[in-house]
Amino acid sequence: MPVQFSAPLMDAKHFPPSLIKAEPAFSLEGSSLRRHPLPVNDVSTFSRARYALAAAALHLKHSAQQNTVLLPAYHCPALVEPFIYAGYKIVFYPQLANLSTDIATFSHLLSPQVTHVVVVRYFGFSQNADELIQAAFAANKQVIEDNAHSLVHFWQTCASQPPAISASVSSVAKTLGSADGGVLYLPGYSGSTQVAPDFITELKALRSGNRPVTGSADAGLRYFRAAMQTADCLRASRWLMLRSNYAAISRQRRENYQYLAQQLQHSSAGRVLYPTLTQQDVPYVLPFLLHDIHGFTRLRQQQIQVLRWEELATPATGIASNYQQYLVQLPVHQALSKQQLQNIVKALS
Ligand SMILES: Cc1ncc(COP(=O)(O)O)c(C=O)c1O
Repeated sequence: MPVQFSAPLMDAKHFPPSLIKAEPAFSLEGSSLRRHPLPVNDVSTFSRARYALAAAALHLKHSAQQNTVLLPAYHCPALVEPFIYAGYKIVFYPQLANLSTDIATFSHLLSPQVTHVVVVRYFGFSQNADELIQAAFAANKQVIEDNAHSLVHFWQTCASQPPAISASVSSVAKTLGSADGGVLYLPGYSGSTQVAPDFITELKALRSGNRPVTGSADAGLRYFRAAMQTADCLRASRWLMLRSNYAAISRQRRENYQYLAQQLQHSSAGRVLYPTLTQQDVPYVLPFLLHDIHGFTRLRQQQIQVLRWEELATPATGIASNYQQYLVQLPVHQALSKQQLQNIVKALS
């Protein structure tokens, strides 16, 4: 049966424009003229991570058999649609309250029909992703690691080249203040078919802070445009990607996260899903579990761009159907001021 997504719960048009953004705006601050030595050998660039996922799905597809991919039940459509586009059959695996997956349930789902598995490191945390990757690899599946939320973790994969991982992707704009950017680590893949954006597109993106997308979504897909599949990322995004100070960005994100987590530990509005950071975590956002569904509207009315994954493949079951309404993503990016962090705390007290 084809995958159907539930309708969005809210329309952004009903809220005032956000002053505190989920992702940093374009800025050269902290970047240097000197290129950093990054492990870019098997890396190709795209306009967004969803097109990197589609490229991986197409490249790793077996031609002589039905391809079936295991995807997490808690997701955004941009993670699922590349596999619909690439013609895969899709099976979802469930998440627990902390977004890890029970290994026995997961292993049970690794049936002979399953050919590929996607493992997500949600919000820049690893949950039990490494355990899932090893189990899928041991069962002879092609593993695609989704590091959309952590560019730092993506570079670690490129450097260490773990045999269990066939491909890895990341969304550049979620970590850096770029107007677009998706990266794919896939040994053996040639990105030579990528088409560089023209100068007008570059200029428009720099002015608006977002890459303008032309063409409508493909039939049945909400956020995926086949016409963008071969589009390369903007030059400005590549520039930032190669010259950003990742250590400073990670430090600032961790500091912001720890401040919010500490301030919100007794919040009456809900609870922080991960109260502490491990040494490896570079948070993309702070996942916060609301007690009251109206908390989301209140935050948006205070002009804070909280995100929420509202559109899930139907029927949404288990924790995913609850998180669809109650799990919100609070901004912690490196460009936030102390005042903005305090405003977020105030909005939740
Ligand atoms: C887990 C995950 N994977 C993939 C994507 C796709 O990223 P992008 O927006 O760069 O296409 C997103 C975000 O939309 C995401 O949250």
